[in-house]
Amino acid sequence: MNNRTLAILKPDCVRKNLIGDVITKITQAGFKVVAMKMTKLNKDTAGGFYEVHKDRPFFNDLLTFMTSGPCVPIVLEKENAVEDFRKLIGATNPAEADEGTIRKLYADNVEQNIVHGSDSDENAAKEISHFFSRKELLENYGL
Ligand code: CMP
Repeated sequence: MNNRTLAILKPDCVRKNLIGDVITKITQAGFKVVAMKMTKLNKDTAGGFYEVHKDRPFFNDLLTFMTSGPCVPIVLEKENAVEDFRKLIGATNPAEADEGTIRKLYADNVEQNIVHGSDSDENAAKEISHFFSRKELLENYGL
């Protein structure tokens, strides 16, 4: 059965003009774009999204980066979406990412790593609701 994951094309992806290249990689890997928007996070919305990392030493820098410009949250659908998307993007640190993965191809470092992907079905559902209303998702259902 198809399920969903949340991707975010981060501010570095937008700044480098890589939105199209990254979405092409994603759709060529068999993911369907179910919902998408461009938005700029603020400290509150970014802090809420990354709350699980609030005690990490990199938290403040992460918020500064994620609020530094617009980003593009995308709801993706595919069988085994969460796991397959994490394989497609590669390790958090691009230096450790497999050849051919999106982070290996495009990311500069562990913080500015081009793209986010949910790490479980449960978190995917939470993260999707962070950016998209029920109405926005229902309107696109069955695309
Ligand atoms: P993401 O998959 O969006 O989830 C948490 C983010 O925190 C991660 O991608 C990176 O952008 C950032 N991050 C994780 N580990 C580190 C680290 N050691 N130093 C700086 N940033 C990090």
